[in-house]
Amino acid sequence: MSVLVSEVPALRDYFYPVAYGADLTVEPRRVELFGQGYAIWRPSPGWPAEAAADECPHRGARLSQGWLADGCVVCPYHGWRFEAGGACTLIPQNDPSLPIPPRARLLTAHCEERYGLVWLCIGTPRAGVPDFPHAGDADYVLRHEFLEEWAASAPRVVDNSLDISHVAWVHRGTVGDPEFPMLPPFEVERHRHGLRFHLTYVSKVSAAQKANLGMDVDYAERSTFVDLVQPLCFTAILRYANGVEHVLYKGASPIDDHRSLFWQLVARNDAPDEARWATIVGMDRAVTGEDRPILEGIPADFPLQTTTEVHTRSDRMTVEYRRLLGELASESGLPIRPDRLWSRTA
Ligand code: FES
Ligand code: FE
Repeated sequence: MSVLVSEVPALRDYFYPVAYGADLTVEPRRVELFGQGYAIWRPSPGWPAEAAADECPHRGARLSQGWLADGCVVCPYHGWRFEAGGACTLIPQNDPSLPIPPRARLLTAHCEERYGLVWLCIGTPRAGVPDFPHAGDADYVLRHEFLEEWAASAPRVVDNSLDISHVAWVHRGTVGDPEFPMLPPFEVERHRHGLRFHLTYVSKVSAAQKANLGMDVDYAERSTFVDLVQPLCFTAILRYANGVEHVLYKGASPIDDHRSLFWQLVARNDAPDEARWATIVGMDRAVTGEDRPILEGIPADFPLQTTTEVHTRSDRMTVEYRRLLGELASESGLPIRPDRLWSRTA
């Protein structure tokens, strides 16, 4: 069995980042989630963001091609106006004495702003915007790193984040070394919306990492505390022997079955100056640049049956991720297509 994200309706019940709040103005703009377009905008400068399906209920024009007037979004096709909450307040072609049809309303989406990101939930939220505890901790500084489209499916991107055993190979140009492929035994714990695990492994410390971490060793043990907070949102605390913590908040917003908006924030507890921030972000850029071509080459269909692929002990967390997505997929009762290329019958 395998699924595409569009075949797991339960995934629509979570919030996903779609834009930086700082980039959002009163000018409506289009974003995409699960293959559908949404318009997002601010009714007035500085006001909370709003979101609705990017399709006018009159003739289907894109609201993202419209504009704001008196706090209402104006459709560019015939000028209908819609207020916060989606109700139509003006049909210019109608006699003002006529009532506005109640069905003349936008299909709104749940929209929140946290951590400088605009988050959308297009279903019925089964959890809020994920909590990033370090964001409110005075000992840590939070930075935005990435918000960019990848030609990879969202579960594949998150699967890669959970998968520590790829580090020695994919990241041999940055933090990995194929001489140290082994992972210690570890346990995976499931929780309501995800899973967590902890392990310590050997990480290469390149010249850039020496500067980033304030360490003068060629290899360092990296204690990694991973929490898949929600099915497509991941946090990891990477702790080094000198006490430095590199805390990642990252995930993949499903643009459609084959594309994701990859996003990543980082928190640090060592108060980096601007020069060091540049090298920290540069290192994370290099690391994600190593993952990206691998993920963009993997089929979007995500295998759900643990008998489909071949697993090792170091794959425990990604095996559990398959179970988790399988449970969400089974909620819908939709038929799930059989596996293709990688199906093994032996
Ligand atoms: Fe929007 Fe006609 S399509 S007002
Ligand atoms: Fe990686």
